[in-house]
Amino acid sequence: MALLIKHGEIITANERYVADILCEGESIRRIGRNLSAPQGAEVIDARGKYVFPGFIDPHVHIYLPFMGTYAKDDYCSASRAALVGGTTTLIEMCCPARQDDALASFELWQGKAAGKSACDYTFHMGVTKFDARTEKQLRQIVRRGINSFKVFLAYKGAFGIDDTELYRTLQLARELGVIVTAHCENETLVAERSRELIAAGKTGPRYHEPSRPVLVEAEGVHHLMTFTELTGAAVYIVHLSCQEALAQALAARARGVRVSVETLIQYLTLDKSYAEKPRFEGAKYVMSPPLRDKRNQAVLWQGLRDGLVQTVATDHAPFDFRKQKEMGRNDFTRIPNGIPSLEERINLLYTYGVKPGKINLHTLVNVASTQVAKIFGLFPRKGTIQPGADADLVVYDPEYRGKISVQTQQMNLDYSAFEGWKIAGRPDVVTVRGQVAVREGKFVGRYGHGQFLARRPGYY
Ligand code: URP
Ligand code: ZN
Ligand code: ZN
Repeated sequence: MALLIKHGEIITANERYVADILCEGESIRRIGRNLSAPQGAEVIDARGKYVFPGFIDPHVHIYLPFMGTYAKDDYCSASRAALVGGTTTLIEMCCPARQDDALASFELWQGKAAGKSACDYTFHMGVTKFDARTEKQLRQIVRRGINSFKVFLAYKGAFGIDDTELYRTLQLARELGVIVTAHCENETLVAERSRELIAAGKTGPRYHEPSRPVLVEAEGVHHLMTFTELTGAAVYIVHLSCQEALAQALAARARGVRVSVETLIQYLTLDKSYAEKPRFEGAKYVMSPPLRDKRNQAVLWQGLRDGLVQTVATDHAPFDFRKQKEMGRNDFTRIPNGIPSLEERINLLYTYGVKPGKINLHTLVNVASTQVAKIFGLFPRKGTIQPGADADLVVYDPEYRGKISVQTQQMNLDYSAFEGWKIAGRPDVVTVRGQVAVREGKFVGRYGHGQFLARRPGYY
């Protein structure tokens, strides 16, 4: 059925105008004033509302065996939460354990999404070991539509790879035209400092940050930059949290290193005092790299404004407070890492970024949709509003006022890190390839409608 969205104010990364959008089948057919509805078309009145391209979250965990437990969401709850929050495409990290087979893991992760997801999705392929067999399989996986790898310079003994593996992964990526996303923290420093803190009886959530301070992250970025420069690969730093790490990335970029930077909505809105909350409440705010000193927030917002930081993600990694975060009650190194926010990214960016003037509407679209699509080979099918693009649209109501609460969230989780936070806007209608998935802020989508997005290698 055709869909006509009338009188909305269309906002892309570089344009702003009032027009109607006619969607036919899965795509945008026409954009113009006073378009008439074909017979049987649904007409949505978007007067007084913004129309954004569907948002894309470039860093999500859904199926995640990690730290002795499993992340809570599945593709039904995660895609529902994503859509209610305006995210129409997500990129999940496929994270095999070191002993696992890469290809079997890729198929396992694909199987978790197929037939369940209500939004579109693709994967970054985790390279958690590198040997001849893995290399062969990675080539196959790239042929199956993956153009980004993921490496961890942290999590010794779990996902982390050594320097030989890192070097060879980057060489392969360079050869194939694949971009390598990387978690940058020096794992030896993390392990040593954690051991010292625990031995000194400093076991609570507040000690997670001192176990991996800003220099540990900056060292990780510097390390990656050196390897990237020598291999000529292209990389993307995930969840960058602080000024010191950003300085390392920018210095490398100035030398010609091909590096993009992602920060998270958590680092922009929360700071390390949240992880210092009493009675183990701080465990809700444990993630890696950790929440930082508040001074870093201004640096990250400025980085977004200046185009130095390319994207804002969530690193959605959902673990319940009860039973899961509680696994680390006597030892912060056992608290499953992650602050879930797949559902809230856009409303938080809008309310705490656009409304107070830290970023404008174009930057919102750019960092949460367009740049993601460009970096990961989805543009212009995704990431903008133009004829021929997928009809992934977010009709956003800037007059809505509400509050975030665990009582109303779609994520399958027993807490919200943003409980009680005010929201000044929300997605009213969301479409995925021409199908309405959210109406009046409520999920009305279809599980299984979401498609795997095959991506071609080559730098974008
Ligand atoms: O704390 C985090 N970031 N949890 C998820 C795993 C990862 O490092 O991406
Ligand atoms: Zn990470
Ligand atoms: Zn992650």
